[in-house]
Amino acid sequence: MSKVTLPLIKNKKGREKISMVTCYDASFAKLIEKSGIDSVLVGDSLGMVIKGENNTLGVNISEIEYHVKAVKKGSQTPFLIADMPFGSYQISNEKGLRNAVRLMKAGAEAVKVEGGAEVAKLISKLTSFGIPVVGHVGLTPQYVNKFGGFGKRGKTQEERDYILESAKIVEKAGAEMIVLEGIPEKLAQEITSILKIPTIGIGAGKMTDGQVLVLYDLLGMDENFNPSFLKKQCNLDEIVTDALKKYREEVTG
Ligand code: KIV
Repeated sequence: MSKVTLPLIKNKKGREKISMVTCYDASFAKLIEKSGIDSVLVGDSLGMVIKGENNTLGVNISEIEYHVKAVKKGSQTPFLIADMPFGSYQISNEKGLRNAVRLMKAGAEAVKVEGGAEVAKLISKLTSFGIPVVGHVGLTPQYVNKFGGFGKRGKTQEERDYILESAKIVEKAGAEMIVLEGIPEKLAQEITSILKIPTIGIGAGKMTDGQVLVLYDLLGMDENFNPSFLKKQCNLDEIVTDALKKYREEVTG
């Protein structure tokens, strides 16, 4: 398989759908490499699925850096995006640049930041130094305390206008792609048709240029996590528990 580059992904808009999945370690990265998936995101969702926390806010730059290095060892073909965790870019654009450089040196090929107008200058700064940026609007998990949870965004016209405006600002600032999370399909479709950059949806319907899911969610790792947008491709919860039980029985007799 030949290397998936940013121009190659961007060229898929309007032609072919883009596949993206999160990953945090070398072993799963090896399997993703074999699957032909276009892009891998070392997401700050690792705070929840790896560290067992209730949200993503506790993740720091060293943790993302560590997981980027692991994923890079396992797979080189998919385009590798690293999340900028909470606190790594909000304090100043200089700090954001320093932290983005750390992730690029660790092996990332782009970084992802959440927000609209508030990250526009940062996006311009990073892109001016050759660091591709992926935007993220709608249900932005780093704003969980402001939103009061992980519920869908864009329920009111005011919210929908704000999300659309944010997406336009992020593109204008120089973002190369944008994640649309937890918004109505119609809004995601509108943003996808207006923007020139690819839109990657999660819980945003089918009309985006691509889809992303948290790896453990799509593999059915947690039987109690069943949001309406999630199609589990297998039931790892059951498969792994059964295997472990079988092993225990074999060992203990
Ligand atoms: O952190 C993450 O995994 C993400 C995706 C859900 C888009 O931001």
